Amino acid sequence: MKILDFDSQVFLAPMAGITDKPMRKLVHSFGGGNIFSEMVAINALERKNPKTTRIADVRDEPYPVIVQLVGYDEAMFADSAKLAEDLGAHSIDINMGCPVKKIVNNNSGSYLSRNILQASKIITSVVKATSLNVSVKFRLGWDHDHINAVEFAQMCQDSGASFITVHGRTRSDFYSGLADWETIAKVKNSVKIPVVGNGDVVDAKSAKLMLEQTQVDAVMVGRAALGAPWIISQIDSYLKKGTEPQKITIEQIKKTLLTHIKELRDYYGDRTALALSRKYVCWYCKGLHNAKQFREQYVKTTDFDTAFDVIDDYFNFDGEIKQ
Ligand SMILES: Cc1cc2nc3c(=O)[nH]c(=O)nc-3n(C[C@H](O)[C@H](O)[C@H](O)COP(=O)(O)O)c2cc1C
Repeated sequence: MKILDFDSQVFLAPMAGITDKPMRKLVHSFGGGNIFSEMVAINALERKNPKTTRIADVRDEPYPVIVQLVGYDEAMFADSAKLAEDLGAHSIDINMGCPVKKIVNNNSGSYLSRNILQASKIITSVVKATSLNVSVKFRLGWDHDHINAVEFAQMCQDSGASFITVHGRTRSDFYSGLADWETIAKVKNSVKIPVVGNGDVVDAKSAKLMLEQTQVDAVMVGRAALGAPWIISQIDSYLKKGTEPQKITIEQIKKTLLTHIKELRDYYGDRTALALSRKYVCWYCKGLHNAKQFREQYVKTTDFDTAFDVIDDYFNFDGEIKQ
């Protein structure tokens, strides 16, 4: 089943601190795939907090961005959805899956799996407030004694959601253990709206496997895109045309890392970009030869001139590849 006006069966997952404008631009530069923002806190957006408003502002991006909102109060959600619409969102996603304590303690994110009535009020309120499509992302349930994904999915549908994304873990799992694709299949079977499956899709083959095993309409990829922004378009091409993903050369990894750093500098300025670049360097060189020494050297750099020298010194080998 086609999802809204998207022409791809793969979604870049919303990831706080990761799927910012620099990352979205980079993922888009490789080709196909649908793109989520980071989660945006509705209380800060409603207060017009400048930093949060900037996170939600996708007006200058020439591809659709699904903007994800997180919070509790349905009236505040409605106001925030309107603000996000004005800031260029293609559609609105509601985060009902975040397991982080700070979010859950505010009765938000995955806590809403324990308060279906409030979850329904939120969706209804957002659907009413905006002309955009509204989707919901959630987990299987609070813990393994409280798996309620089928009931939750039906509630989303009845409340007016256009599609849903199910992450095959519970709140208590956080990110550990294998995602439960069987329950994702049950969810798919229980609703008429499109379903996106999420959890442990790491490459083109596992994307295809999830589609086959669960019959979901699309897949979502999170951690596998860290340090590998090309993966979304690789999966997209494989699903559309059967194109086997090309090996990525060391030179391409270096070039992508440098582009990522450039985008970070343009968007955040040097000081913040240098700090943020450290985590990306770690991800881009994961599994490569002498990566540990490279990381140790890179994290010690205090300016971009030195940082680029360290990158140049490191990426002077070939022959090693990763997909
Ligand atoms: C660093 C990080 C940040 C995340 N931030 C969000 C978020 O803002 N909103 C959300 O719905 N999920 C968030 N997630 C969860 C992912 O969207 C996804 O559901 C999860 O990583 C499972 O998919 P994967 O197995 O492909 O990684 C985050 C995950 C990671 C690793």
